[in-house]
Amino acid sequence: MPTTGTPPSRIRRLWRALWRPSVRWSVASLLLVGIVVGIILWGGFNTALEQTNTLAFCANTCHEMHDNVYVEYQETIHYHNRTGVRAICSDCHVPHDWTHKVIRKVKATGELYGHFTGVLATKEKFEKNRMRLAQNEWRQMKATNSRECRNCHSFDAMERAKQRPRAQKNHASADARGKTCIDCHKGIAHLLPAEYDETADEANFDNSPNPPAAATAPAAGPAPAPAPATTSALSPAKTSGK
Ligand code: HEC
Ligand code: HEC
Ligand code: HEC
Repeated sequence: MPTTGTPPSRIRRLWRALWRPSVRWSVASLLLVGIVVGIILWGGFNTALEQTNTLAFCANTCHEMHDNVYVEYQETIHYHNRTGVRAICSDCHVPHDWTHKVIRKVKATGELYGHFTGVLATKEKFEKNRMRLAQNEWRQMKATNSRECRNCHSFDAMERAKQRPRAQKNHASADARGKTCIDCHKGIAHLLPAEYDETADEANFDNSPNPPAAATAPAAGPAPAPAPATTSALSPAKTSGK
């Protein structure tokens, strides 16, 4: 008779002992200990998770992020603006709800592999991959209807009358036209990939003439800068230095 896989009897005894019902401790006290330990582990896990969402972590843990996207982002309105509300990396890139957040974090472990194999190790390598990386983000944001943008922005909360006519018109018809923030606002936090072709997105914009009401609406306070004729909402330069 072959006895393959039979553990040594000492281990077997320990195993049985572990699963034998306790005679000493009441079910209630065992449950209590289990609950307390569970809460501590749960809290620790979530604290560690939050730690990986901070700007310091995302900007400084690896040079791939620091030297490229972080430096660029510091020049944009999401880093510095009149009201001092800052959007950090995780605000745009990590879902708020727990399930999607954990899924995103598990995916991020793949990025560790990328780091150690040096896929983005140099500026040249980063630029070579930027289009692919950006397209991933665009695809995800389109699929979630720009969910992370909407944690802060909403069409409802916008004071349309204070927006530029072109913005008013585009925002008014966006839902009906099935367009979402990222369809029209690429490159708001980082430089656009060299291969990105603006004309490919032209159809996303509402190019009908500005409604007369919007075009003539008096702006409260200083008049907003006139929008240049080109589709400059796409240009990161547009959002910087404001
Ligand atoms: C953490 C909150 C937050 C998130 C998330 C966020 N934003 Fe913003 N956004 C802001 C703030 C704050 C401003 C600056 C408002 C101001 O001072 O005028 C801003 C400004 C903007 C502007 C105006 C740029 C300009 O030059 O006037 C655009 C466009 C914009 N955001 C698009 C987006 C898009 C697209 C996303 C998702 C990819 C996004 N935002 C995610 C908070 C956020
Ligand atoms: C169909 C295209 C389109 C969609 C979809 C869209 N926008 Fe815009 N948005 C524009 C245009 C065009 C402008 C004006 C840009 C300019 O004049 O340079 C604008 C301007 C803005 C501004 C600045 C307003 C101002 O007048 O200063 C903010 C903030 C903004 N968009 C946020 C968002 C957010 C957040 C979403 C998603 C909830 C969104 N937009 C969806 C086209 C769009
Ligand atoms: C306001 C929203 C916003 C913030 C804040 C933001 N990103 Fe992004 N990020 C985007 C969007 C949108 C894209 C898709 C490409 C694009 O449109 O520029 C992107 C793309 C990227 C990419 C792919 C490469 C590329 O350039 O397209 C990386 C990597 C990245 N972000 C990392 C970061 C890191 C790290 C931070 C913080 C230092 C950060 N992002 C902050 C919105 C944001």
